[in-house]
This record gives sequence, C-alpha cells and structure tokens, in this order.
Amino acid sequence: MNAQALLNIAYLIAAVTFMVGMKMLGSPKTARRGNQIAAVGMAIAVLATIFLYDPGHEVPTFIYVLIFVAIAIGTFIGWYIAVTVDMTKMPELVSFFNGMGGATAALIGLLEYPHFLDSPYKIAMIVAGLVIGSVSFAGSMVAWAKLNGTMRKPIRLPKYNVWNTLVLLAVLALAAYIVVTRPESPVYLYALFLLSLVYGVMFVIPIGGADMPVVISLLNSFTGLAAAFGGFLYDNMAMLTGGVLVGSAGTILTIAMTKAMNRSLSNVIFGAFGDTDLTGGGEGPKGTVKSINPSDAAILLNYAKNVIIVPGYGLAVAQAQHAIHELEELLESKGVNVKYAIHPVAGRMPGHMNVLLAEANVDYDKLVDMDDINPQFKNADVVLVVGANDVVNPAAKKNPASPIYGMPILDVEDAKNIIVLKRSMKPGYAGIDNELFYNPKTSMLFGDAKDSITKIINELKNM
Ligand code: TAP
Repeated sequence: MNAQALLNIAYLIAAVTFMVGMKMLGSPKTARRGNQIAAVGMAIAVLATIFLYDPGHEVPTFIYVLIFVAIAIGTFIGWYIAVTVDMTKMPELVSFFNGMGGATAALIGLLEYPHFLDSPYKIAMIVAGLVIGSVSFAGSMVAWAKLNGTMRKPIRLPKYNVWNTLVLLAVLALAAYIVVTRPESPVYLYALFLLSLVYGVMFVIPIGGADMPVVISLLNSFTGLAAAFGGFLYDNMAMLTGGVLVGSAGTILTIAMTKAMNRSLSNVIFGAFGDTDLTGGGEGPKGTVKSINPSDAAILLNYAKNVIIVPGYGLAVAQAQHAIHELEELLESKGVNVKYAIHPVAGRMPGHMNVLLAEANVDYDKLVDMDDINPQFKNADVVLVVGANDVVNPAAKKNPASPIYGMPILDVEDAKNIIVLKRSMKPGYAGIDNELFYNPKTSMLFGDAKDSITKIINELKNM
C-alpha cells in the first residue's frame, strides 16, 4: 500500500474518532472518554500528515525538528494551562484557545495564497478561511478580555451597527475582488486580513459581558468553518470533518443558549441585554429579608422528605462542590431524597454546573435539567439555592421591564421552603435585584457557600 493510501486511511480513522468523540461528549458519563478518543484521532491525523504526506519536494530534516519542537512547546503550554486553570476561568480559556484556532486558520491563508494563484476555487477557500479565521481570532480576544474583566463594559460608538455593516461590506467586497482578480501582490490579502481583524473587534466590542458565552460559541463555530475551508484547500478529510463538526456543534450550542435565555441571536449581536443599564428597569423589589443560621437550616433539611439543590456561579466561586456532595450524601443517609436542578446557563459557561459536580463525583442521575425539575419544585420541602441568583430570579417571568424578562428560570418559588446561600444581598451577573430573597418562604443564610455548607453538615451530624 502506498503512503497516500495509508494517509487516507489515517484521516478516515481520525474523522471517525472525531464523530464518535463528539457523540460521547453529549453525556457527562462518556464525555471524558469521548475527548480522549478524539484526541487520539487528532494525534493520528497529525503524525500521519507529518510522515506520510508527500509535498512533492525534499523536506530538510531541520524542518521536522522544528515541527516537533513546536508540538512539544504547544503540548506543554496546553497541558500546563489545562491542569492549573481555575474552573471559574474556563470560559476565558475556551475563548483564548478558540482565538488561537482562528489565528491558525488565518495564517494558513496568508502563507498559502501565493501557492494557489492559478486556482480560483482554492483562492476562494483561502480567502474564506482567512476572513472567518481573522474575525474569530480578533473577536475571541475581545471576548477573552471581557470575560477576565479587563473590558467589562460594552463599547458602543454612535451608530455602531451602521459602521459594523459598512466594514463588513468592505471586507466582502475586498474578498470578492481578490477571488476574482487573484492579484499577485499579497498587499490586498494583507489589507483583507487587517480589515477582518478590525471587523472582529467591532463585532464583539458592543456586546455585553453577559452575552459572551453565546458570542464565544458563535465564534467557535466560525473557527470550525475556517478550519473546514482549510480542509477543502488541502483536500484533507480529517481537517474538513473536524472543522465541520466544530462549526455545527458551535452553531447548535449557540442556538441552545439563546433559547435558554429566550433571546434571538440578532438580539444578542445587535444589542439589548448587556446594555449600559443593567439595573433592572424601574424600582427593585423591596421588603423584609429573613436570615437563618446553619443550625436552623440543618433542622429544616433534617425533617425534609424532598430536597432540591440549585447550584449557581457562587458554588464555583466558593469551590463548594465537594462539600455539597457530602451534604447530599449525609441527607440521603437520613432518608431524604436529594436532587440537583441544573439551569442551562447557571455559572459562567455551558455545562458549568455539570462539570463542577462531576468533579466532586456527584451521581449524574441526580442532576435534573430545568424542564424536568420545574414541575417537581412544588413537591420539594426545601430548596437549597447555593450561589445562584439570576437563574432563580422571578423577574424573568413577572417583570417585563427587567433585562432578563423572558429568560426561563428554575421555579424555586413553588417549593415549601427556600434557603439561599450567598454572602450578601449583592446581585448576580445581570446586576439586578432578586425578589425571591424577599419572599416570605425564603431564608437567607449569609456567608461563603462552602463555609455555610460545612457548618450545616456539622449540625446535621449532631442530630
Ligand atoms: P449569578 O446570577 O451570577 O449569581 C451568583 C451569585 O453567587 C451572586 O449573587 C453571589 O452573591 C453569589 N456568590 C458568589 N460567590 C459566592 C460564595 N463564595 N459563596 C456564596 N455565594 C457566592 O449566577 P447564576 O444564578 O448561576 O446565573 C448565571 C448568570 O451568568 C446568568 O445571568 C447567565 O446569563 C450569566 N452567564 C452565564 C454563562 C453560562 S453559559 N453559564 C456565561 C456567562 C454569563 P454574593 O456576592 O452576595 O455572594
């Protein structure tokens, strides 16, 4: 069998592992293994390309040395970041890595342009990859800066939507000119690269921080698409399949997130939520706040039959996942039925709560999605809200002036008793007051979530 046939088989194996891996990512039970399988497939594709691809000329040994040194450095950096990153910093990391993918796709375009000038089809692929990759890179860097707090406020120039559209039109016009005329001078391509970077920045900069996960997911699908164009360019099946999978998964995730927030994608991109005013529109709810101590909270839990835990971003901040699992096991040992209610946008990234609770070995069967758990709140004796705020805010249902109006929430108000664990009366991500905290059924247990849960556990152990 010749090298080309072997290479095709390697790409086929890689493409299959990507699809199997992607499928397995659909469930927390199989996600880790799915990721490993896809990574093995990627390694096969990369090694097969290095050793089996025939570039049509002799490749000096030092090029191989450079490639492996680059792989070693990249692997070390990736591994180091992955093992040291805080769970709460994950969205920034995803954004940064996605930006790197976009930059790579753009670099392919810049480097390969002079080699394919005789083919309008290949130049079209190069230009498409370059534009989409550059937009994704620049946009991801802005998203990264927004998520890590460097650039928290959306920046909106007067008539920014008009300017954005004009720059986009200029990008498309220049791209079309390059594809049609295929100028030998790379100057036009560099101009297109710069203009696409500018558009990427302008595209993301006006969007509010709360919408960044949606934007990142959208940019993720852009990067996938840019990689897929690279696959077309090189007739590389693995690259094409990988790109298409990332592109379609990113698109599906974007749609799922906008649905979870009850928003349209155009509403996210052209502005509304994440605007300058996040104070909730009008007067916030006023009333009396009832606080509770760990001992009384433990008594309520001890005599409950059904308890639902609602984890939110504060669980991640407090790193209380192990403590909550211990509390859940303790309650179960006392005959209490415990479940977790998972809101699709709780925390700061898709699946944040699932990942966090999986880290503490919480049984996946105990995690119940919003649509399934909502009808069960009315049977809950106690709901324990652990560092969640926006995802349990009734304003989303009741207050049309609220920026989160229309976002589906967890119906914790239906439960008999509600205990909220947080440190203060400060708002959550959307920056708005929460009338749940003033509900007569609600008791606030102020303090760091991990600390409060540990105290409840100690009280329960003495009962
Ligand atoms: P948030 O509404 O952000 O509320 C988190 C709450 O946790 C805060 O009110 C905070 O109150 C409390 N908290 C923080 N540290 C704590 C600690 N150490 N111990 C106890 N409590 C602590 O969280 P959520 O309900 O999970 O909602 C998520 C929000 O983020 C939504 O608006 C969503 O749209 C947005 N968002 C989601 C994503 C994704 S995809 N998941 C990404 C970005 C943004 P104190 O300061 O008083 O303690």
